[in-house]
Amino acid sequence: MRALILVGGYGTRLRPLTLSRPKPLVEFANKPILLHQVEALVKVGVTEVILAVSYRADQMEQELSEEAKKLGVTMIFSHEAEPLGTAGPIALAGEHLRKSDKPFFVLNSDIICDFPFKKLIDFHKSHGKEGTIVVTKVEEPSKYGVVVYDDNKCIQSFVEKPQEFISNKINAGLYVLNPSVLNRIELRPTSIEKEVFPNMALDNELFAFELGGFWMDVGQPKDFLIGMCMYLKHLRTNEPDRLYDGPGVVGNVLVDPTAKIGKSCQIGPNVTIGPGVTIKDGVCIKRTTVLRDATIHSSTWLESCIIGWRCSVGRWVRMEGITVLGEDVIVKDETYINGGQVLPHKNIGDSVRTPQIIM
Ligand code: GDD
Ligand code: MG
Repeated sequence: MRALILVGGYGTRLRPLTLSRPKPLVEFANKPILLHQVEALVKVGVTEVILAVSYRADQMEQELSEEAKKLGVTMIFSHEAEPLGTAGPIALAGEHLRKSDKPFFVLNSDIICDFPFKKLIDFHKSHGKEGTIVVTKVEEPSKYGVVVYDDNKCIQSFVEKPQEFISNKINAGLYVLNPSVLNRIELRPTSIEKEVFPNMALDNELFAFELGGFWMDVGQPKDFLIGMCMYLKHLRTNEPDRLYDGPGVVGNVLVDPTAKIGKSCQIGPNVTIGPGVTIKDGVCIKRTTVLRDATIHSSTWLESCIIGWRCSVGRWVRMEGITVLGEDVIVKDETYINGGQVLPHKNIGDSVRTPQIIM
């Protein structure tokens, strides 16, 4: 089987991290978001993954070709000269997707869940129509594509980012489509959510597969951290051996084996520590991701932060309130940051008491 993953878009909502790396390559729970998906696809027998790229294609191609080899999957990079939205890339990859008459997967690249691909494909075959989309329930549906469907799971309407409440069932960003759907998509910048799904719903050709378990679009910092908490909880139930245990560890914590943690620290709950990270003595970290090669100096306190690659956070620093440090930021000793979004390579010595972007 084939899969197409939408990896274009500028990832603006995940800035400042996406100023250094494209969103799908940002490590979520110590692995590029995209690789969580590709590994799950490979497990159900997908042998060819088409990456629809419109931005930073070279960086993506360089880093992922190696991973593809390891996983034994063919990765095809389908480059857009201009961003083609969420449907245009499917038309652009038409020659690959039409190679067989079997259905193919389409995925948004910023989604994390316990990818139910086997059950999804079985469900798709069982109803025999053109498309299936995975749906999940959320509390704030207005940020998403909302779906209304009948008892047989046949979708009656699809409305992208509705202004008024219609339903709390939303498009989870994972689809199975028959190649015939290609006949509905033109090669131009176009949205699958606005221009394709509503018409498929009118024709009774679109079905909803209800997702069990956790789900999150991790394309913005607040949701990235919520998604991380969900993912770590899922690991606790399903693969507890992958979680870290040691002195000072509280709750669900993931630590790369190459990271170093000092004495008298409190790490957790809900913390991910990346490869090459150094945590000095007496540090307290909660609900935070620390990315590769960052250093957190002694007696610092972090809650609800994402610490970018190669950052250096000084001693007695306090950061909280969804603070995101871009790559290679230096935070001086004793600084307080509340909800700061700090651009890469900055040097910060003054405290930031209210949420803001620091350029
Ligand atoms: N190749 C390519 N070209 N990919 C694109 C482009 C483009 O021009 N624009 C966006 N993408 C990719 C993004 O990288 C992402 O993987 C996916 O398409 C969806 O774009 P987002 O920008 O993340 O959309 P969203 O989160 O606002 O909404 C979408 O996801 C929701 C679920 O999280 C929609 O599909 C909603 O209906 C859905 O509920
Ligand atoms: Mg998204």
